[in-house]
Amino acid sequence: MKIAVLPGDGIGPEVTAQALRVLEALSLPGLTLFEGDVGAVAYRRHGHPLPPETLEMARAADAVLFGAVGDFSCDDLPRHLRPEQAILGLRAELTLFANLRPAAGFPGLEDLSPLKPEIARGIDLLVVRELNGDVYFGDKGERDSAGGREGWDAMSYNEAEVRRIAHTAFRAAQKRRKKLTSVDKANVLETSRIWRETVIEIAAEYPDVELEHMYVDNAAMQMCRSPGQFDTIVTGNLFGDILSDQASAVVGSIGLLASASLGERQTEFGTFGLYEPIHGSAPDIAGQGKANPVAAVLSLAMLLRHSLGREEEANRVERAVAQVLASETRGGDLGGTASTSEIGDAIVSTLLTI
Ligand code: NAI
Ligand code: MG
Repeated sequence: MKIAVLPGDGIGPEVTAQALRVLEALSLPGLTLFEGDVGAVAYRRHGHPLPPETLEMARAADAVLFGAVGDFSCDDLPRHLRPEQAILGLRAELTLFANLRPAAGFPGLEDLSPLKPEIARGIDLLVVRELNGDVYFGDKGERDSAGGREGWDAMSYNEAEVRRIAHTAFRAAQKRRKKLTSVDKANVLETSRIWRETVIEIAAEYPDVELEHMYVDNAAMQMCRSPGQFDTIVTGNLFGDILSDQASAVVGSIGLLASASLGERQTEFGTFGLYEPIHGSAPDIAGQGKANPVAAVLSLAMLLRHSLGREEEANRVERAVAQVLASETRGGDLGGTASTSEIGDAIVSTLLTI
């Protein structure tokens, strides 16, 4: 089993180090780790945020554990050299088209949600966001118009793209509470009409899953009003970007939520994927031991589950995290005083007891 570890910038290396301690504590046999440069640190060392050797290392691995990229010192660089291009490049080059972002309330943390505790307690949802298409990857440009300079971005989805993400989402829903909400804007967008018709076509293969459709504006409202109604959500790249950030906010802290980006490639042990916290490099707290490593540790749990076929270990890591969060050991983002490594200590020692 080979894992490419790409810590990146800012708090990326700090939180990834704690995830690696947790991995070490599991003592999995036959595991080899490779570490590569990515983001601003890679630009400084190799002149590119995603050097070819890092991409090759990721390709050769069974899974990628990613920290975060981004550094304000790179703000003046041309777009293709900016650190954030590294994660976009990895998603595109490795055809990671399905982004899974689970958001669930943690017992004991309901008070941190902006929602009422009884509503926050009911959150247990999974956003399945398409990651390789939509307006992000369409033609774009600038042109003259009667109103001055005009920016434009083409939005599109073809049936093949919708089919593969729909299959991922239906299969994920089957493993959860068997309810799938497809979010679109089919009342105004042609892209969404094709999206909806294709999702309905695929639904015939999953008669055990209840499918509903929701317009994205309504979904945004429902996410604040009663997120407990959602089980699995499937949506396009743009709507999914926004809704999944919103889902993280209703849980409490951005330092808690993990993500998996999966493609179709199967390895000996599971599905090849890239795993990362949903947060960025947090330059405001980098180097101060203030970062919450929970999102990185939970990303490792997703890696164990999806790419290494280690469901039991994934569950153990998740249980250890939940126990620590319910205890007094909390970071500043959760109103506590524990440092990044103290939270890591607590997770590792709890893990060894379960
Ligand atoms: P951010 O997620 O890095 O930080 C937002 C806020 O949340 C900050 O106040 C930060 O201190 C806090 N925060 C984030 N993670 C935390 C953690 N684990 N524990 C405690 N507090 C935490 O987003 P921001 O500030 O918009 O972006 C910073 C840089 O990260 C930018 O360069 C951005 O482009 C990049 N970024 C990279 C991503 C990635 O690598 N996938 C994703 C999002 C942003
Ligand atoms: Mg986002």
